[in-house]
Order: sequence, then C-alpha cells, then structure tokens
Amino acid sequence: MSSYSSLYQPGNIGKLQLKNRLILAAMGVPLADAEGGVTDKMIAFYRARAAGGVGLLTTSFASISADATFPLTLSIHDDRFIPGYRKMADVIHEAGAKLCVQLMHPGLLLLFLGWIAEGVTVKVPSITPRLKKDVPYHELGHADIDRYIELFAEAACRVKESGADAVELHASNGCLVSTFFSPITNRRTDEYGGSVENRARFARRIVERIKERAGRDFPVIVRINMHDDMEGGVGPEEVVRQAAAMESAGADALNISSGLEYWTSSTIPCYLYPEGPMLPMADKVKKAVHIPVIAAGKIGLELSDQLLTLGKADFIAMARPLLADPDLPLKVRKGRAQDVWQCIYCNNCLNIDLDLYPGQCSVNPFVYREEGYPLPKAENRKRVMVVGGGLAGMKIASLLAGRGHEVSLYERSPGLGGQWKTACAAPAKKDYASLAEHLERCLRQEGVVVKTGVEITKEKVLAAKPDAVVVATGAIPAGLNVPGATGENVVQGHDVIAGRAVVKGNSVVVGGRFIGMEVAIMLAEQGRPVSLVTQAGLGEDGIRLEPMTFRALARKLIELRVPLYLHSRVVEITGRAVMMTVGDDIFALPADTVILAVGMRPENKLAQELEGLVPRVHTLGDCVKPKDAAAVMVQAGQLARLI
Ligand SMILES: Cc1cc2nc3c(=O)[nH]c(=O)nc-3n(C[C@H](O)[C@H](O)[C@H](O)COP(=O)(O)OP(=O)(O)OC[C@H]3O[C@@H](n4cnc5c(N)ncnc54)[C@H](O)[C@@H]3O)c2cc1C
Ligand SMILES: Cc1cc2nc3c(=O)[nH]c(=O)nc-3n(C[C@H](O)[C@H](O)[C@H](O)COP(=O)(O)O)c2cc1C
Ligand code: SF4
Repeated sequence: MSSYSSLYQPGNIGKLQLKNRLILAAMGVPLADAEGGVTDKMIAFYRARAAGGVGLLTTSFASISADATFPLTLSIHDDRFIPGYRKMADVIHEAGAKLCVQLMHPGLLLLFLGWIAEGVTVKVPSITPRLKKDVPYHELGHADIDRYIELFAEAACRVKESGADAVELHASNGCLVSTFFSPITNRRTDEYGGSVENRARFARRIVERIKERAGRDFPVIVRINMHDDMEGGVGPEEVVRQAAAMESAGADALNISSGLEYWTSSTIPCYLYPEGPMLPMADKVKKAVHIPVIAAGKIGLELSDQLLTLGKADFIAMARPLLADPDLPLKVRKGRAQDVWQCIYCNNCLNIDLDLYPGQCSVNPFVYREEGYPLPKAENRKRVMVVGGGLAGMKIASLLAGRGHEVSLYERSPGLGGQWKTACAAPAKKDYASLAEHLERCLRQEGVVVKTGVEITKEKVLAAKPDAVVVATGAIPAGLNVPGATGENVVQGHDVIAGRAVVKGNSVVVGGRFIGMEVAIMLAEQGRPVSLVTQAGLGEDGIRLEPMTFRALARKLIELRVPLYLHSRVVEITGRAVMMTVGDDIFALPADTVILAVGMRPENKLAQELEGLVPRVHTLGDCVKPKDAAAVMVQAGQLARLI
C-alpha cells in the first residue's frame, strides 16, 4: 500500500509556502451570519479541517458586491467584515494551516436558489438563448465592468488586511466571471466578447488589478472551467488559451473545475461519475502553463498520489472528502487510511433541507456542528436497546457506546445494513458499501453487542427492561392504490435492484424520482425495453431532488432514449399493460413487468406499541420519516447527545 508521501511534501503558490499538497476546496457553507459575516460556527468548521492536517483552506465563496449575495454565506464587500476574517485567519494559522478566501460575484448562479430577492437583477455579459425566461437580467455595460473589477480588487485588499494568505478568483461554474469566458453565456460583440482572448479580458483585468492593489506578492489563484459540460461551451482547445491568459495576467496558480452549475452536473460529480472526470483537460492545461495546477473533482487518495508523483498536478483540492472526514490528512499521514470516513459521493450534502439545517452529510453526523464534537462521556451509564440494524441503528449504537453506555443492537434479518444493502446493489453505487463497512467496524471498536436474526417485539423489550430504547425499524416500499397493483406482474424497484425480482419482456417503471430513474437506467443499460411513467414531471413528485445527481440521472435516461411519460397517472394495471392518463385520455402502455418506485412507508408499529410502556423510547431514521442517509446521520448525532 502507498505511504502517500507525495501528499505531504511542502509546496509553493507564489511566495506562499504550504506544508503539504492538500487543499480544502471552496464550499459554500451556510454558516455566515445574516449579513454575510464570519461566525464562530464557521470558524469551528474551518478550524476542524485545519487541525485535521490540510495545508491550505479555501473558504466558502465570499461575495464581492452588495448587489448579489446568498443568504448565510460569506460577504467581503465592506470593511466591516474584516475583523471576522482576521479572527478566522488567526485560528487557522494557530492550527497550522493557511487561509485563502474565494472571491465571487454570483452572476447567473443567483438562479441556483430558485428565487431572487425583490429589486435584485441578475448580472450577465449578454442575454443569450439558453437563459431562463422571466428573470430580471442586467447586461453589463463598460462602467459596470470597471466597477466590478474595482470591487474584486478592494475585496482582495480586505482579505490581505485580515491576515489571510491568498485569494481565489471564482471564474468557473457559471458565476459572473465565468459567464464571460463561456460562449454559451457571452455573445458580446465588444472587446469582452468574441475571441477567447476577449472573453478572458474581464478575468484578466481583475487579476491584474488585484495584483496592482494588493501587491505582486499577494497570491491569486484562479479557478476556471476545464469544460462547460454543455454543447457549445468552453472545450479543451479554448481552456488552454484561457489558462495561458490567466498566467500572463499574473495568476499564481490555477484551480480546475467544470460545468455551468445551474444547468449541468459535473461541477460536483456524484457517484455516477468516474474518478477525476476533469483530469484529462487539466493535464493539457498543466502542460501549457508554468504556474502550479490544482487538481480537483472526485479525486481519491490513490489518484492524488499518482497525480502528484507523476507531476500531473501540483496540489490536490478536496471538498466533499474533507466534509466527510476533516481528519483525513492526519489519518492518512499516520498510516490510518482505513479509518478515514470515506465520502461516497452521494451529494446529499447539496440538499437544502430546513429540517436538517445548517446541513448534512451521509457519513459525518457532525458536519457544520463541529462546536459540539466530540460528544461528551455520559454521566450515567445506561443500558440501551437499539432495534434495527440499518444505518440508523448502527450509527446510534456506536455513538452511544462511544459515550460509555452499554448498548445492544438487534436486527431481525441475518445481516446488518437494512435498505442500504439494497442501495449498494445498484451497479453505480458499489462504493456505497464502504459506509456500512465503516459502521460495522465502529460497532466492533465500541464494543456494541450485536444480535442478528432476532425480531424484537413489545414483549421482548418489556422483558429486557432497558433504561432506554431506540427504535430504528426503517421503512418498506410503498404500494400503489390502483386495481391490479398487487398482481403477479408487479414488482418493487428495490427488489429489481437487489436482483430479487425477475423482469420479463416490456417493462414499465412507475415513479420518476431517484429510485425509479435508477431502475430504468439499470434496465436500459442491460439492453431491456423499459419506459418510465410518472404522475408529475421527472424528479418533481415530492421534495426537491438534489439537482446535480438529478441532472446526471436525467441525462443518462435521455442518452439511453428511455421513453418518459410525464404527468401521466397510472389508474390501473392489467396482466399486459399499464393504464395511464395522457391529459384527459387513458392509454394502455404494454407491460409484461410493472416496477413500482413510488416511495417508502415507515415501519413504526413497534414504536407505537411501546409508547407509555417503557420510560424512554426514541425513534430514529426512516421509521420516523423515510428520507436518506444524511438525515439518519444528523438525527443520530443529535439523539446521541440526549441519552
Ligand atoms: C434502492 C435504494 C436506494 C437508495 N439510495 C440512496 C441514496 O443514494 N442515498 C441515500 O442517502 N439514501 C438512499 N436510500 C435510502 C437509505 O437507504 C435509507 O434512508 C436509510 O438506509 C434508512 O436507514 P434506517 O436504518 O432508518 O432504515 P432501514 O435501512 O430500513 O433499517 C431498518 C432495519 O430495522 C430492521 N427491523 C425492522 N423491524 C425490526 C424489529 N422489530 N426487530 C429487529 N429488527 C427490525 C429491518 O430489518 C432493517 O434492517 C436508498 C434506499 C434504497 C432502498
Ligand atoms: C457543498 C458544496 C459547496 C460548494 N461550493 C463551492 C463554491 O462556493 N465555490 C467553488 O468554487 N466550488 C464549490 N464547490 C465545488 C468544490 O469546490 C469541488 O470542486 C467539487 O465538490 C469537487 O470536488 P470533490 O470531489 O473533492 O468534492 C462546492 C462543493 C460542495 C460539495
Ligand atoms: S453527503 Fe455524501 S457526497 Fe457529501 S460529503 Fe457526505 S458522503 Fe460525501
């Protein structure tokens, strides 16, 4: 096994020396105060990662202009923000790392939220055909451009004054600067549009002006798209010239990214992407410039080591892996790579779910809650019975045992994992298995007594007389309330994914959310005839789906040419067809197998039966409300504190 020693070599960005080659990539974290100022919670978030051994931390994007800010994310458009950054820089330095602040004007990215505040206009280089309609756009004139260049430079001076070590100019993913780079969003006919050099002029002038005002030695990293991931966008030939333009403007390093975030899915590549999807283009850029290139985007440890050893990158920026485990660098350095809480690239961290505010991760219950971690030891050791060996049961059991409680975990099936075992059976989700393996390891390490093949009833709980019970009995697939839905030709999507159900002939998937889309893709990739019917738009039936994963799945469905029947309600299933509405009419869609993917039903019978009979009954995970692994983790972290 590699020692990963390449990751721990010191390196320079301009005159800034970093102790190793690992960088925390910028992540827009909702931990700022209402005005966009640094908070103690935010400092705790970054401090945990600095203490975990990363060499350079890039902050969440910080808005350089009061006319375009996101709620609860950083701003740097006024001097009043400087003390907050100073406090953060001091803490990060004390923890042994350096701090870089990402400067951004969101431009079109404002649309990512789905709403725009009263009186705000969305700044764009030009109005182009693919822009959403009915949005108050403002095409930048020359005076606007000059003003924004000055605002970027002023922001950089504030960063320098705060004692932070560098700035990163966000010029990728569809923010204002990147929309100048892209021919999809820039159709200007003046000196800021047309040729590659003209489209790079706005970014070039910003870098030059920052250098003039903050000093030549103050490091400026520029983050650019390796490709726009969209027909007609920036491609490999152009990006090399853009990179060269940034180098000649004075940039000290280039960080890579891709995609136009409100349309595409590659910016934050989910489990469907291979490792390092942006690297082929980054390699071309690396060969064309003399400044360091920072590789980013789903890069694991082995690949990081290879890239650095072969000289294909100078630094590695990680975002989600360090969200999942802030201590990754230290653990790896100490030869404990197997103890890293591995990011599974599920993208649950991108969901905006107010129930889980300020955010969530499927493997780390304490993300954004670093102030209260590690959990304190329990004052009174309790005997705790945990019912259900899915993710929820496993996580709460190990956390409670870690606090010093005596914990027993009961699972009715022969093995642990619950629904997660089915989730991992999908061809693209093999790496999800690492989460269940990690949780099983934690159970062993914390000394939890695990009993599988034992179904817990009310009577068994009463006989065991535990001090507290945690019911984590999960959820089961919901049925469809129409005639024929329990027929022999009807199966559940879960069972298809797990290989427990046979699919014959023409198949029709009912349900257009993640599991329905995944099953349809799986069958289409096997070359089987499959179509998908959903009563709403694709991905629209229920709470909003995480957009990056949704788009990656939708793109696959389209590329595989799976017929999609949207806004069609299934009214009956016969032995040979699905009867569905199209407008006011009803049609028969031939189906030898009908596959249901219409949601989950909580299994909460035991919890209801125990109510009032046992002093402390807690419920957790899908048995409360079927959601996902990240919800399970947040709830487990919160509950573990209370018992
Ligand atoms: C196909 C599929 C794909 C998915 N994909 C994703 C994804 O990409 N990302 C994501 O975040 N989530 C995904 N999920 C959802 C995720 O798996 C669940 O939200 C999560 O695993 C729920 O965990 P849980 O422990 O609450 O419930 P469960 O996994 O349902 O576990 C409950 C356990 O309790 C046991 N049990 C029930 N009653 C008793 C009893 N009386 N005695 C003893 N044991 C009992 C059950 O046997 C089960 O093992 C997916 C789910 C499926 C099925
Ligand atoms: C929650 C979250 C927020 C992000 N916000 C930003 C951002 O503000 N600026 C930016 O340049 N990239 C942002 N990104 C992209 C990451 O910097 C990174 O390029 C991407 O996640 C791929 O790297 P990873 O595979 O290591 O996560 C964000 C990613 C995540 C997961
Ligand atoms: S939520 Fe998923 S993708 Fe995001 S950091 Fe956690 S494991 Fe990784």
